[in-house]
Amino acid sequence: MNDRPIGIFDSGIGGLTVVRSVMDRLPGERIIYLGDGARGPYGPRDIDEVSRFAHEIIEYLLGFGVKLIVIACNSATAAALEQAQRRYDIPVVGVIMPGVRAALRRSKRLQIGVIGTNVTISSGSYERAIKKLDPRATVYSQACPEFVEFVERGEVTGDHISEMALGYLDPMLEAGIDTLIMGCTHYPLLAPLLAQVAGPGVELISSAEETAAEVDTILDRLGWLAEGDRPGSMMFLTTGDVDEGRRLGRMFLGPEVREVIPITFDEHPAPDFLDAEGEAS
Ligand code: DGL
Repeated sequence: MNDRPIGIFDSGIGGLTVVRSVMDRLPGERIIYLGDGARGPYGPRDIDEVSRFAHEIIEYLLGFGVKLIVIACNSATAAALEQAQRRYDIPVVGVIMPGVRAALRRSKRLQIGVIGTNVTISSGSYERAIKKLDPRATVYSQACPEFVEFVERGEVTGDHISEMALGYLDPMLEAGIDTLIMGCTHYPLLAPLLAQVAGPGVELISSAEETAAEVDTILDRLGWLAEGDRPGSMMFLTTGDVDEGRRLGRMFLGPEVREVIPITFDEHPAPDFLDAEGEAS
């Protein structure tokens, strides 16, 4: 058993879809979530820059004594996961592999579509991961750069976004995909729309649930799951605007988002759930 918190981060608020799944699956865990609202979205940025941001955030979260890190952002996973797994001596989990495994489990014809931000799609990370696990699979990738803005405005239905979705998905639907990976943490909020556009023959994969399952498996194997009657908790830190974090946080996670704490990378607010000796510096 290990009572230290889990650190989860994203370029903003999309990673809260992963937090939701981790909280549902592991309700006794303490979670520190960091949204890099000041520098997100990462999707349009250069991959080396995203990697640098991700390492800065991981170093910061390590200052809270976290036992595991989840890079709850596809763009940051594509940019930094492999290096982070080599560099740090705690488990670092990304969102790409869990989604890929689920897609390969569920796809019947191995015709797999992937949608994501520019940086995720142009990194080729999904394609490499899918081919590594099953070289027989055919992968169709499409960047959907405008989706993030729509989701953040709360515009997840309506003619405009439906037409846009159809434009993005049409080539892969024509090609005959049977599985579609939502390779961006914002996209689970578009799941009803994407399911409608893709039709009943296409299985939608959300990496959030699969990532939570992977966190469970790793912590269980290490004997590090939080145990006991104490309920879990979630602390939401942001480098960006607090009101915006709260508004979008409630949309992505739910009413559990109460306080949003502004941070800079020079200091660690003391989480009330860490003991008095203070693992937070
Ligand atoms: N969270 C990001 C991702 O999953 C989407 C938002 C962004 O572009 O940073 O790729």
